[in-house]
Amino acid sequence: MRKMKSEFPENFLWGGATAANQIEGGSDVGGKGLSVADVYTFDENMPKERWTEQWLMMTHKQVEEAMDPSSKKYYPKRHGVDFYHHYKEDIALFAEMGFKVYRMSLAWTRIFPKGDELEPNEEGLAFYDRVFDELIKHGIEPLVSLSHYEMPLHLATEYGGWVNRKVVDFYVRFATTVFNRYKDKVKYWITFNEINCVKHHPFTSLGVIEENHPHIEQAKYQGAHHQFVASALATKTWKRINPDVKVGCMISYQLLVPYSCNPDDIQKTVEKQRESLFFSDVQARGYYPAYTARMLEEKNVVLETQPDDEQIMRENPVDFVSFSYYMSSAVSAHPDNLKGAVGNLMTGGVENPYLSKSEWGWQIDPKGLRTALNQLYDRYQKPLFVAENGLGAVDIVKEDGTIEDDYRIDYLKEHIKQIKESIKDGVDVFGYTSWGCIDMISASTSQMSKRYGYIYVDQDDMGRGTKRRIKKKSFDWYKNVIASNGEQLD
Ligand code: BG6
Repeated sequence: MRKMKSEFPENFLWGGATAANQIEGGSDVGGKGLSVADVYTFDENMPKERWTEQWLMMTHKQVEEAMDPSSKKYYPKRHGVDFYHHYKEDIALFAEMGFKVYRMSLAWTRIFPKGDELEPNEEGLAFYDRVFDELIKHGIEPLVSLSHYEMPLHLATEYGGWVNRKVVDFYVRFATTVFNRYKDKVKYWITFNEINCVKHHPFTSLGVIEENHPHIEQAKYQGAHHQFVASALATKTWKRINPDVKVGCMISYQLLVPYSCNPDDIQKTVEKQRESLFFSDVQARGYYPAYTARMLEEKNVVLETQPDDEQIMRENPVDFVSFSYYMSSAVSAHPDNLKGAVGNLMTGGVENPYLSKSEWGWQIDPKGLRTALNQLYDRYQKPLFVAENGLGAVDIVKEDGTIEDDYRIDYLKEHIKQIKESIKDGVDVFGYTSWGCIDMISASTSQMSKRYGYIYVDQDDMGRGTKRRIKKKSFDWYKNVIASNGEQLD
């Protein structure tokens, strides 16, 4: 029998995570094309309740407006925080914190600006060569998400997004191109960020505009099927080129707990959790789980598949399971008389009275991370990677120029403690990349003021500011966490 482990493994991968569409900017340089992320606007006069509207449902009108070069609206993800021009300075700061790993994504549209070209854009490929070389120079391992909410807009408008099988071929061409190019620089790959979010925001995840689909559930699951096949094909290609490469799936893990011990709440929780874990079930095991048939039938979904799909998926499951963890959510079968958990957008859960919440209403539950790690490990017995975790908060720069983000330190500390508990439980977790190691544009609200970083960026919601990078109090705290391999958290 294995002895209990009480410490983080020696080679634990500590680091931070970002996504190209939220950090890079430079949408008009290097031949980059527009991605679905470049369509989201921010307007400082917009009421708070409407911030996430476009994230959850994009309309034709908004897409057309965004494609019109004379549009006067502000599109924050086109500007990011200009990592495109600041990457050396930013990576040097990551190195100063002692990062072992940096999770980043590739902007598909830098490499294939429209997505359906036969040949890649050399300038885009060269940019990532420079980024990887800089990371390697500092001894930081890149962990790369191939697709993080940034598919080419052209594939959405001209092909209808992932519902169209042709997109599988475009993705595989992209995957093969970058793998051939970076095979000696990148060992860890994630095929799709938060693949289970196709259910919640189909435009950003699938390039699907809901107005086009009277039966939206059909479109979502068909798109997901194509992503499963595409992920398996990419894995197959990569392993052929380099059998040592490690490929992971990535889901958004919102721990679901029954609101009460009422058997109806318990059954509802099981169903909701299956809907979410369905995606990692398929990618970690390589086949559709037994509950799929009933789940799809009840949604009136009939998948169109090709004869080889099952075999491709079965032969190419992922090596590791990664996930984001920000919050948990309570589930009730009879939510009408209960308060909805407003920030926990995705499950529409109810508020858990035992938990506090962030300024954006996300319910904070560090112990839930231990539960999540145990649940996933029990379920898959595959190495786990915490690919995102963090607190979105408003930070204030004091007159003396310092930023005292103790609230962020508290949040991260409590979560890291629970990872350690899970290691004692026997869970095989090999890395942790907190979200937004440097401030950048929020995915869901497109705000700048929802900050996650250890590094502050002087820029406001409308893109005004010097873009100067300032270390927050959490910068030195995290540096110490890494230096002590998770032993010194206070
Ligand atoms: C995850 C995404 O869902 O959550 C990230 O993978 C995102 O892209 C992060 O930024 C935090 O969400 P938000 O909306 O606060 O930026």
